[in-house]
Amino acid sequence: MVENSTLVLFGAKGNLARVKLIPGLFHLDESGQLPEGMKILSVGRQSSTKDEWENEIKQMLDKKFKSGYCKETFKRFVARNLYHANLPDDPEAFKKFGRKLNDKNVFSQNFAFFLSVRPTDFALIVDQLANESLLDQSTGWKRVLIEKPFGTNLESAINLQKSISKHLNEEQIYRIDHYLGKSALQNILVTRFANSILEPIWNSNYIDHIQITNHEMLGVGDRTVFYDATGALRDMIQSHLLQMMALTTMEQPKSFSPNDIRAEKIKLLESIRPIDTDEFDTHAFRAQYAAGEIKGEGRVDGYLNELESKGSVTETYAAVKIFIDNPRWNGVPIYLRTAKRLHESGTNISVKFKNADTLIGDKNNWIIFNIQPKESTSIEITTKTPGLNDDELRSTRLEGLNRVEGDESIDAYETLMLDLISGNQSRFLHVDEVKAQWRFVDPIINYWTQKKEKLDQYVSGSSDPESSKVIFEDPSQFWR
Ligand SMILES: NC(=O)c1ccc[n+]([C@@H]2O[C@H](COP(=O)([O-])OP(=O)(O)OC[C@H]3O[C@@H](n4cnc5c(N)ncnc54)[C@H](OP(=O)(O)O)[C@@H]3O)[C@@H](O)[C@H]2O)c1
Repeated sequence: MVENSTLVLFGAKGNLARVKLIPGLFHLDESGQLPEGMKILSVGRQSSTKDEWENEIKQMLDKKFKSGYCKETFKRFVARNLYHANLPDDPEAFKKFGRKLNDKNVFSQNFAFFLSVRPTDFALIVDQLANESLLDQSTGWKRVLIEKPFGTNLESAINLQKSISKHLNEEQIYRIDHYLGKSALQNILVTRFANSILEPIWNSNYIDHIQITNHEMLGVGDRTVFYDATGALRDMIQSHLLQMMALTTMEQPKSFSPNDIRAEKIKLLESIRPIDTDEFDTHAFRAQYAAGEIKGEGRVDGYLNELESKGSVTETYAAVKIFIDNPRWNGVPIYLRTAKRLHESGTNISVKFKNADTLIGDKNNWIIFNIQPKESTSIEITTKTPGLNDDELRSTRLEGLNRVEGDESIDAYETLMLDLISGNQSRFLHVDEVKAQWRFVDPIINYWTQKKEKLDQYVSGSSDPESSKVIFEDPSQFWR
């Protein structure tokens, strides 16, 4: 059973809290996962009375659970959920907040602070918590969850780390990448290490290359300002896709303890070969979506038309080639790609096997982990087409669903909030992982920033741009 604690949610009136965190906490409460005495202190920068906040929670839940929810749980949930206004013009705001939280009769002194605020506020809030002695562990454990992104490049990540580590040790810091809370990603380690059929062939002797893909049909929508300052490489590859790669390629940890799992991921990410300065154009590719047709949406605008600045060189498509310098993966290219406004949406890890050294010609063998929307594992093998022609071969797909009707459905954020209050860091990033990820991505961003030339365009609703194939190591390779 999880120890009693107080979850303090900063940014409770923000988008993430409304859409994911508060409904997620409700769902955890409904399924009996929250300790009985646990309080949730929601902190926002606007005032709300108790009744107003209760009504806001109701609206969030009505929106999320359209088919209804348990009224008894609702009563229990609002009883444990208190609101505190941290008014920006009140210099005493944090003092008042500290005094409130120190009331042991109301709040367990084990504090889990979830900072669902803008990245520029992370360090400031940690300083303010420390000033009020709210991070002092002599009265109970204190943990701080930092939302993504942790820095916008290596330098800013190091600075943020320097700032928060004045008050917190590594065991207290929970850096989120919410993909790690997805059950389909947790399944990768189990599939790899609980089945003896994969491990012997999971190496450069048998694997030709790996493709890790995240494609969306959605465009940038109303997030143009955020997106234009970020781009596809920073938004998706810097953390989500590199983490997927780490889980797919890391060595088996000594144990499945959080420290051992993270130690292996760190080793893997630190073994990424840096790209040579004259190789950027064959190791990284970027493009932008142009106007086109999207199924279900009809005609859509191109990225540059959606922006006020028509000269933007921010990519909405990014693909990179990675080599891992260790004995297992020597010479195996790993392709990471992500895009908006493609003809289909989906996240998967596709592992292509080498052609067997036999008399039968061209073969196409894959193992695919589908992460979303479907959660499944498939194997594609070459088989003979029934009939008289012995030379006619085809690809046969064996697919096993990892999620079937009736399976429990837990949102990634729910898993991670439960991890936070239970003290399990295995699905959170160690600072060394974050640094290794920026170390790989930064030089590409810098190269692209200096280049400033007009980007390749791809028609919205199409598949990968033809020119993205420039990063393939071998002409026989193709995007799945
Ligand atoms: N939304 C998503 O789906 C998503 C996905 C991945 C990561 N994230 C990350 O999650 C974080 C939150 O995202 P968001 O979309 O929810 O942002 P948001 O809508 O801007 O919400 C942030 C909230 O934090 C409040 N805030 C700032 N300082 C505060 C303080 N000292 N005390 C209490 N509240 C404070 C802000 O209040 P004011 O409005 O008064 O300033 C605002 O309501 C960001 O770091 C983002 O990068 C979000």
